[in-house]
Amino acid sequence: MTNFSKIIATGSYLPEKILSNQDLEKLVDTSDEWIISRSGIKQRHIIGENESPSDMAYNAAIDAITSNNIDKSSIDMIIVATFTSDAVFPSNACLLQQRLGIGSIPAFDLNAVCSGFLYAIATADAYIKTNMAKTILIVGADAVSHYIDYTDRNTCVLFGDGAGAVILQHSNEPGIYGSELHADGNGEEALHVKGQLKQGKIVGHPFVYMDGKPVFKAAVKSLSHIATSILKKTNHTKEQIDWLIPHQANIRIIEATANHLSLPMDKVIVTVDKHGNTAAASVPLALDTAIKSGKIKRGDLLLLEGFGAGFTWGASLIRY
Ligand code: UT7
Repeated sequence: MTNFSKIIATGSYLPEKILSNQDLEKLVDTSDEWIISRSGIKQRHIIGENESPSDMAYNAAIDAITSNNIDKSSIDMIIVATFTSDAVFPSNACLLQQRLGIGSIPAFDLNAVCSGFLYAIATADAYIKTNMAKTILIVGADAVSHYIDYTDRNTCVLFGDGAGAVILQHSNEPGIYGSELHADGNGEEALHVKGQLKQGKIVGHPFVYMDGKPVFKAAVKSLSHIATSILKKTNHTKEQIDWLIPHQANIRIIEATANHLSLPMDKVIVTVDKHGNTAAASVPLALDTAIKSGKIKRGDLLLLEGFGAGFTWGASLIRY
């Protein structure tokens, strides 16, 4: 057992502006009580007028680099998980590489929506294990608010903006024990943004559409199943898990997943109350928040899980 990738640094960024449930009560026919009881969300951060998704990605990357004394010239690949790039092209990974000033290393965006960070972790781990890279900067960054219709109460109460970063490096010790990824394109109708630019015009609805119930059911089923599967594949038991770090979409989905694993909620990292659903940023933001607060410590066994549009879902079992 000598070929692993290990998390050597984490970082995060949340925009300054906070949108509370009380603020939303003024915009749509909703209530603080409904939002908290149905989703667990109390507030979410919203990107500034003059801020871009790549700014958030850069701030999270710089936090990971500086608060962990990383030599940025050691980074030899950048992956940005996002569905909200600044531009159609170039990718936010290229914008980030340019701002970090780190040479001609490969840089690309990866879009698996809310599972993007899990897809990026599995991808980076494969590059490291096959010696194509040694130190990879992964950033999950999304400005979901850019695609939210603030007159649609079905969606506007659920989402927020932010960025989280992780640096993975080759190690002789675990590390990532394994990852599992899935997709089911039949989920398209339940959750999508279909609008696109064509001939200089927006064609199709440019806002998030979600039929919550089927998404909720698919999320609980997929996340419960993948948790059992990744443990089996990596020869671990649920009793060994120190922390479950699930996608932060809805406290009831998180509780159902924890329940399936018989994990008490004090072993589950929850940030959905403060961040809402930040898509690809949700898991790395939760991870960094829990590391900075001292909850997650070196040597802990972490189960990371994501679920999102596509549908897509993924999990990673990691020794921190
Ligand atoms: O990151 C991708 C993954 N996303 C998710 O995992 C989200 C999955 N879905 C959910 O989290 C939940 O389905 C919701 C939080 C969106 C909704 O919870 P629910 O338990 O499925 O809803 P419900 O059955 O308790 O309530 C639905 C009702 C509808 O009214 P009628 O048709 O029953 O009269 C909605 O119009 O609640 C109404 N409603 C609202 N009421 C007050 C929908 N949004 C709101 C709102 N405030 N913001």
